[in-house]
Amino acid sequence: MYILAIESSCDETSASIIKNGREEISTVVLSQMDTHANFGGVVPEIASRMHIENITMVLEECLDKSGLTMDDIDAIAVTYAPGLIGSLLVGLMAAKTLAFVYDKPLIPVHHIAGHIYANNLVKPLEFPLISLVVSGGHTELVYMKENYSFEKLGGTLDDAVGEAYDKVARVIGLPYPGGPRVDKLAAEGQDVYDLPVPLNDDSYDFSFSGLKSAVVNLVHNEKQRGNEVIPENVASSFQNRVTEILVKKTMKALKEYDVHNLIVAGGVAANKGLRAKLISECEKCGVDLTLPEIKYCTDNAAMIGAAGYYAYQKGRRASFDLNAKANEELK
Ligand code: KG4
Ligand code: ZN
Repeated sequence: MYILAIESSCDETSASIIKNGREEISTVVLSQMDTHANFGGVVPEIASRMHIENITMVLEECLDKSGLTMDDIDAIAVTYAPGLIGSLLVGLMAAKTLAFVYDKPLIPVHHIAGHIYANNLVKPLEFPLISLVVSGGHTELVYMKENYSFEKLGGTLDDAVGEAYDKVARVIGLPYPGGPRVDKLAAEGQDVYDLPVPLNDDSYDFSFSGLKSAVVNLVHNEKQRGNEVIPENVASSFQNRVTEILVKKTMKALKEYDVHNLIVAGGVAANKGLRAKLISECEKCGVDLTLPEIKYCTDNAAMIGAAGYYAYQKGRRASFDLNAKANEELK
């Protein structure tokens, strides 16, 4: 089964063709990052306009690269939620148009389900599993007993982890998007600053706004005292606190639910510090860890095509009145 998938929830316009939920035939990702970097973050109105300008070209290129035609495509999958509403609407309208004109089923895919299924492109998911979801908009622990069944164990009470990374990056003078840059600096610095481990309790919830404020205060106070702030050391201290709590709660969930498979989903899954800590802990505990390919950690349509296949198997179909939603729980 060939699925043509479309993703446009934030600042990447992407199309992909995925065979049977696992085999990537062709993927095109057009990032608007350079444009938004001028503004220090994604400007929603600019993002939607750029999606409109690019979506047709991205779809054409994806089909060209695949060597297939629309006759070979069995269904259209699309991210309908959550995300920037204007951005989502562009991909959704393109998907509905293709489904209507070529008379193909339309499959609605939740963006986070997509991030989770980026792991299925590495190897088939094995159940039950725990997914650590770490993106710019989400931080959650999700239990899956089978394909396309999601049970949220806990999540962030305030900022998402990627959001905290981007804000800390700004405080230490790094351009948008800050996450990858903080990650790079962290490897060059030392964990010398006294920052708190955030929401270090027995729950599966997270909180990053206090840690973020602690970084802001640290930088401010050091400057006032006339001390030099070493960005590498701030990055290293911040990253260590973040990864410590993410890994601690993830390992606790694996133990408590007696699960031996762990996958990681979302943009922050690209984080080198997090990957290294998880690899080492999972080795110690005999947990089978899957990490998405770096290029499929951040937003792309390949993961939507992978998720779409299992959504389809579960009978998920959308009619033409499917609407985009800025906020929607994973289900
Ligand atoms: O999943 P994603 O592409 O978008 C959302 O669905 O939110 O994630 C983007 C987020 C941004 O906050 C970005 O700074 C962060 O992921 N990110 C990273 C790294 N690469 C991307 N954060 C920390 N370390 C990285 N290597
Ligand atoms: Zn995403």
